[in-house]
Amino acid sequence: MAQLARLAIERKREACSGLIEPAIETGHEGPRPLHRFQHGSGRSGLVGRFNGSIATQAQQGPKSQHGGSTRAVATIPAMPQPESSPWLPWMRRALQLAALGRGRTSPNPLVGALVLDAGGQLVGEGYHARAGEPHAEVGALAQAGERARGGTLVVTLEPCCHHGRTPPCSQAVIAAGIARVVVAMADPNPQVGGGGLAELRAAGIAVITGVAEAEARALNRPFCHRLATGRPLGILKWAMSLDGRIALTNGASQWISGPEARTWVHQLRAQCDAVIVGGGTVRADDPLLTSRGRRDPEPLRVVLSRRLELPAEARLWRQEQAPTLVVHGDDAPSQARVQLERSGVERLVLTDCGPKALLEELAQRGCNQVLWECGPELAAAALRQGCVQELAAVIAPKLLGGTPARTPLGDLELTTMAQVATWPTTGRRVLGPDLLWQLRQPED
Ligand SMILES: NC(=O)c1ccc[n+]([C@@H]2O[C@H](COP(=O)([O-])OP(=O)(O)OC[C@H]3O[C@@H](n4cnc5c(N)ncnc54)[C@H](OP(=O)(O)O)[C@@H]3O)[C@@H](O)[C@H]2O)c1
Repeated sequence: MAQLARLAIERKREACSGLIEPAIETGHEGPRPLHRFQHGSGRSGLVGRFNGSIATQAQQGPKSQHGGSTRAVATIPAMPQPESSPWLPWMRRALQLAALGRGRTSPNPLVGALVLDAGGQLVGEGYHARAGEPHAEVGALAQAGERARGGTLVVTLEPCCHHGRTPPCSQAVIAAGIARVVVAMADPNPQVGGGGLAELRAAGIAVITGVAEAEARALNRPFCHRLATGRPLGILKWAMSLDGRIALTNGASQWISGPEARTWVHQLRAQCDAVIVGGGTVRADDPLLTSRGRRDPEPLRVVLSRRLELPAEARLWRQEQAPTLVVHGDDAPSQARVQLERSGVERLVLTDCGPKALLEELAQRGCNQVLWECGPELAAAALRQGCVQELAAVIAPKLLGGTPARTPLGDLELTTMAQVATWPTTGRRVLGPDLLWQLRQPED
């Protein structure tokens, strides 16, 4: 029940957040507390709408013999095509549940699950709310209790089969007497890698895969990216004037964008595990870089600096609200190291001190997604080293002028127009007086 209460709160929070990128574009209703479907008048919820097709299938055909329970394993006439699968609406609902954990599950993926009883009634739902807390399947099965026996588990990611911080979900599914498991995508984690599905099949459970797979992959893009590359997915964000400047000639840049855009940035930070700037931005802007309480814990604030000539006093050094990590090369002066240590900030030496090595370190610390909020020098270095997969440019209807004034990017070392990639647009939105333009790296 605790998870149900949290689910309702999370849904409200999501609805209020106004984030530009919806968790998943389904066109379906968002998650509601399960009791509304079970006891609501007129059965007008998802159960009412989808009960027919699922229940009809589940009730036809011979029954299986597993575990002495009446199961509907053999009742699926043929493997449905994922695109036209009758499970698609339920999977989309599970994906909506999964999205409620956004910003809190790293290094784990976002996972949502629901349980239908043997008659096709929704009897349990859950999502992975936070790393270290129960997995989505466990929550949904606990809520379903005995009603899970002979029923169907719809889950956005292959159930795990290894002992991590929590016991393997595959065993919980088998023990609950589930007859059929519908999965959106296999777990890209090599520790699982199809093993969870194999365990379920070996126990005689019918397994259907690939339902809404593209949506599930999109939802867990940061997790998949980290597993594929060993680095978190990088989002580079900047705010610039209509004439393409990110600061005045004297370096002042607060504020180019309006309050609506700045609130959106706080929400974006809440979805990231770390926010990164270079030493230049610390010196020029003295930024705070928190989500203003939208994420608990706040994302790790990271400063990358070669020289380590950083101010003795900075808002980033005060860590009551959020932790700060300063990363530097092994030639940084020892006096500067000592001064930083006095301020209580964590300091890390990287021999190959640059964006790529930094992201490898952050992946080791469990980051799936990071936000680059740096100036042009570090932004260009991050792009050159393949550390940026998404861009978010806030364009303000202001003119800053000044030929020497800073622009968003330093040298990308491009010499021909053929080398210039066109990043597909993923979103455009008006934020108060400003325009937000979001792009995604073409090949990613
Ligand atoms: N409008 C916006 O959205 C926005 C956002 C951020 C910043 N800004 C503006 O940008 C200006 C600052 O620009 P900036 O380019 O100096 O800022 P920056 O990119 O945040 O910082 C540059 C610094 O990052 C470190 N660095 C860069 N590349 C590195 C690498 N490969 N390895 C290790 N360290 C590296 C160096 O620090 P050390 O010098 O300490 O060694 C370098 O001086 C300011 O005027 C600020 O207001 C605007």
